[in-house]
Amino acid sequence: MLQKNTSLREYNTFGINVHAKNFKSASSLEEILDVIKITPKKDLFVLGGGSNLLLTSDLNKTVLHINTKGIKIIKETTDHAFVKCEAGENWHKLVLWCIENELGGIENLSLIPGNAGTSPIQNIGAYGVEIKDVLEYCEALNLETLNIEKFTNLDCKFSYRESVFKQQLKGKYIITSIVLKLSKRSHKLKTSYGAIEILLNEKQINTPTIKDISNVVIEIRQSKLPDPKKIGNSGSFFKNPIVPKKVLENITHKFQNVPSYKIDEDNFKIPAGWLIETAGFKGLNLGTHGVHHKQALVLVNYGEATGNDIYNLSKTIQEVVFKIFGIKIASEVNIV
Ligand code: EPU
Repeated sequence: MLQKNTSLREYNTFGINVHAKNFKSASSLEEILDVIKITPKKDLFVLGGGSNLLLTSDLNKTVLHINTKGIKIIKETTDHAFVKCEAGENWHKLVLWCIENELGGIENLSLIPGNAGTSPIQNIGAYGVEIKDVLEYCEALNLETLNIEKFTNLDCKFSYRESVFKQQLKGKYIITSIVLKLSKRSHKLKTSYGAIEILLNEKQINTPTIKDISNVVIEIRQSKLPDPKKIGNSGSFFKNPIVPKKVLENITHKFQNVPSYKIDEDNFKIPAGWLIETAGFKGLNLGTHGVHHKQALVLVNYGEATGNDIYNLSKTIQEVVFKIFGIKIASEVNIV
């Protein structure tokens, strides 16, 4: 039932060629349970879309690839539809399915790499929307009891790129499906994010549809972010740091143009991309790997980099950014 010594190159968007001791791509809950029942918990490694993952060595473990499929409407009211999506579905495929069915709420999250089942773990977000804004609940398999449990939006304890599944419950559950509450009409479009507004104006779209928003987001992402099928990457490698007002003021003395977003009276978010660019790393090309030339937040594998090459570069960036700005930037990507 388990494949031996399997390359994971196709299963991580960085395209790192490490091997798993055992491997199983599971297309049903039964197959997932079959693997869990024969695998000690410490030897289990659960893999979704592999889009938020940096693999630095071979895995002497059993890699369980979640590959369950299915998208359907499970409940409807006059204004809303509740869409259930199995964990192994590709996230962007779900977005397109919703747009096709005229359901609004996740169009701003177009083209985010990864799978539906892993989207709540790091509360994926882009262009003013996070999955926490639409997630009604998710279902997850408790690895101790092997029961499926329901986690409401509140249970997930969402915050910026965070959830309970990355904190207290890390490694304890496998998300098996998500249920989103989406609008059937009177869609609440989020168009205020700078680049979206600019592109809609350029295209003279005055009353955008959810499809227009999706198309514009796709255009913005394609213009800034490398396609993982062509250049290995994991999207934003670092989280945008949130710093006290005082720290921002100190930086402003030296760098008047530092961009920032107010979180509350005392705290501000600074784009890590700006810190990294200002530290001189944007476009850095070390042959096998480097920093994307259009978005400094994205580390790239040009083909033959090892996970450690990329990890070491990320460490260097963190150190230099800390030296210049006194700010610690934390990685968003799971490093294994
Ligand atoms: N910036 C630079 N140099 C760069 C990149 C960015 O100076 O190389 C500055 C610019 O001032 C720009 C600002 O940073 O105006 C913000 O840049 P951008 O709009 O590209 O967004 P971001 O904060 O860098 C975040 C998310 C992205 C998401 C975009 C859009 C994080 C860690 N990243 O990036 O998420 O697509 O906003 O909402 O929050 C991902 O998680 O993989 C990802 C791509």
